[in-house]
Amino acid sequence: MGTMISQQLKERFQTLLGRYPVKRSALVPMLLFAQDEIGYVSEEIVEEICRTLDLPRIEVIEVVSYYTMLRRKPAGKFHLQVCTNVSCMLLGGESIYDHCRKRLGIENKQTTSDGTFSLEEVECIGACVGAPAAQINYDFYENLTPEKIDRIIESLTAQGK
Ligand code: FES
Repeated sequence: MGTMISQQLKERFQTLLGRYPVKRSALVPMLLFAQDEIGYVSEEIVEEICRTLDLPRIEVIEVVSYYTMLRRKPAGKFHLQVCTNVSCMLLGGESIYDHCRKRLGIENKQTTSDGTFSLEEVECIGACVGAPAAQINYDFYENLTPEKIDRIIESLTAQGK
């Protein structure tokens, strides 16, 4: 799937470039801006950044793999971020995460083949009082149980059609 790079994004790249004395320092901010705009770091983005910063592809790819928040594939329509940090872990966050993996048949940072769901194991999302918690797109879900997750996934599946 190809993605066009908008004029706006190109201009942002130029602005960033002007802000750093060393070109390479603009690499991470550029990747974050690009992901914000199109949802992931596409091949076209990698190429454009290589050209703009005059960097070899391998260097850009290494940085993308290093930063867990950067993704190389589009997220699903519903992006499940399950917290397994301390407060959530103590109250079963890991089993919630495992349940999601099995139920959706995908691993961390993968997307279901129909593009409906993607999954990510995340650090604290600031909802510890409602642990174990998850965030799906912009909504928070708290005091989760495997049964609650099943119901949420079912209702989102129905909405996703
Ligand atoms: S530890 Fe899970 S939301 Fe804070």
